Order: sequence, then C-alpha cells, then structure tokens
Amino acid sequence: MNSTLDLPVPVWRDELEHEYAALRARIEHLVPCMEWSLHLPWIEAINRLKLQRGAVIMAHSYQSPEIFHGVADVTGDSLALAQAAADCDAEIIVLCGVHFMAESAKILAPHKTVLIPDLEAGCSLAASITADDVRALRAQHPGVPVVSYVNTSAAVKAETDVCCTSANAVQVVESLGVDKVIFLPDAFLGAHVAKHTGVELVLWHGRCEVHEKFTAAEARHARERFDAKLVAHPECPPEVLAEADFVGSTSAMGKWLAREQPKRVALITECSMADNLRAQFPATEFIKPCNLCPHMQRITLPNIYASLRDLRHVIEIPADIAARARLSLTRMLAVGRGERV
Ligand code: 13P
Ligand code: SF4
Repeated sequence: MNSTLDLPVPVWRDELEHEYAALRARIEHLVPCMEWSLHLPWIEAINRLKLQRGAVIMAHSYQSPEIFHGVADVTGDSLALAQAAADCDAEIIVLCGVHFMAESAKILAPHKTVLIPDLEAGCSLAASITADDVRALRAQHPGVPVVSYVNTSAAVKAETDVCCTSANAVQVVESLGVDKVIFLPDAFLGAHVAKHTGVELVLWHGRCEVHEKFTAAEARHARERFDAKLVAHPECPPEVLAEADFVGSTSAMGKWLAREQPKRVALITECSMADNLRAQFPATEFIKPCNLCPHMQRITLPNIYASLRDLRHVIEIPADIAARARLSLTRMLAVGRGERV
C-alpha cells in the first residue's frame, strides 16, 4: 500500500522489462537502476488508466525523467503547455507541473477537466504577488500597461493586460508599442528583459527560489574546472547571467544545444530540465550545477495515478476571473502569431 495515497502498489511483471525496453534504453543513465523496478509498474498502470479515461498527460520540462519520458503525451515549457491545452481534444488533462500551469490550462480549455496531482505544487514567483498588489501598482502608474509572467495566479492574470513567458517576454513587451510597462513579478527576468528593449520597466520584487540560488562563482567554476559552455535561465541573478554564453528560456536552451552542439555544457537551471535535455543530446556532456524545484518534485508517479483514478485535484477558477485571465493569455498567444495587441 502507498501509505500517503492509500493506493495498492502495482506489482512487477517480468514482461514489463521487454515491453518497456526502448524507454529503459532512453532513460537508464538518468534513473538509478534500483529505482527502475519501482517506477515501471506505476508507468504501466498510469498509461493503461490514461487510455481508459481518454486523458492527456502534459508534463513541464522540470518533471522527473520517469514522468517526462514515461507517461507524458505532451512535454515542454510553460508556453508550449499553454498552447497544447488551448488546442487539446481530450476531455481530461492531467497537468504535471505547478499550480499556475494547471490554472493556465483550465483558463485556455475551460470546458475540459484539468487535474493537478498535488494542489500544494506552488511557485515562489506566483506566491510573491496578489491581485491587490497589481491594482495598487496600476494606481501608482496610471495608464501604464501590465505585463505578467505566466508564473502568476489566475487572479493576478485577471488584472493583467498581457501575459508572457521567459520565451517571449521581450517580444510581448515590445508588441505594446509604449515606452513604459509594469512587468511582474520576477525582478531578475524583468532586469534581463529591460536590457533587451528600449522600454522602461517598472519591476516587482519576486524571485524564483530555485534560480536565485545560483552564484557567479559557481558559474565560473563550471567554466574553468570543466571547460564547459554556460547556459543560464533568465530567472538567475544578473551576475550569473553576465557569466553565461547563452541566456534563454527552457525551449530556447534546447534550440541552442541543437544549434551549437557543445562538447560540454553547464545548464544553470533546474536539475530535471538538465536530465531531460541529456536524454535528447547524448553527444554533449552535461555538468550539473543544478537545483531541484521542490514544487515540481511534489508530482510523483503514485499521485499521477491517484489523480487519474479519482479525478483529483480538479482545477476550478471563478468564471469572472477566468474570463479576464483568458484575455491576458490569449493576447500573449496572439503575439506569438505575430499579431499586435
Ligand atoms: P518556462 O517558462 O521556461 O517553462 O519556465 C517556467 C518556470 O517555472 C521556470 O522556472
Ligand atoms: Fe517557480 Fe522557480 Fe519552481 Fe519555476 S523553478 S516553478 S519559477 S519556484
């Protein structure tokens, strides 16, 4: 029995080894062999239940390899998952990521059942700002539009003119055609965006608790000790970004690796993300000065199974908040299609 979830643990069958040989080959250098026999029965049980339910599992790139490679139908950064939710045909979406990502899926696919396996999977950026804070900022800067990172609650998105992700933040800010923008809530991402636009940004003091921990000394150590190229997420402190060979979002990092094919790289970002890219680029050696996101780690194979079995935890958003939040997300997706907002 899985005590916290009160689930019977699925049992090992020897045939599983053969049926999942291709998956094992893909992730065996990422998942310790001791864990493989624990994960595989869950992977099989989830994949079977998913088919019965007609559900789609979407997993953020920061999900552990056994989830990302083993059970997800759609994988990607927060922008890719938001787009996939908007385009999804399935009636049930299980969002393996953090709460704001599941909310975005529900906002964009309002008639679907969107489930998150653990309601406590939060985000320090989303927790750093409330809808009241946004209203107060607007009062201090009348007429200045608000751009919010998608790492915010639905209530904050409802107070926002247009959302962005780290993949499209510069493009979204510039699409407004104004000289001043309130940019929320990540101070480091905001400072990075400000450097790449001629637009004045009013910033908030939010920080990602995972990326803020990296230091310039760690980055230099990875370069000098391992002769590695440095690739950093823009949620890192500015002095870390200053050391990097490339600064980019989750998806941009993958594209950079495909283009540059470095011999050795240090990904200054979340650990599971580095693991998942390692599986994609076997010719590159990955040095890992990484930190795990504790919120992403709350999602596990047993709670994904429980989520599908019991249809929990259902994401609900009050209709008026969802309608206003939808506008800010659909405007972001329109910018991606080259439209002006
Ligand atoms: P992406 O927008 O790159 O998916 O990142 C989301 C996130 O939470 C990064 O820490
Ligand atoms: Fe939030 Fe940082 Fe975790 Fe991303 S890595 S979900 S920004 S706490």
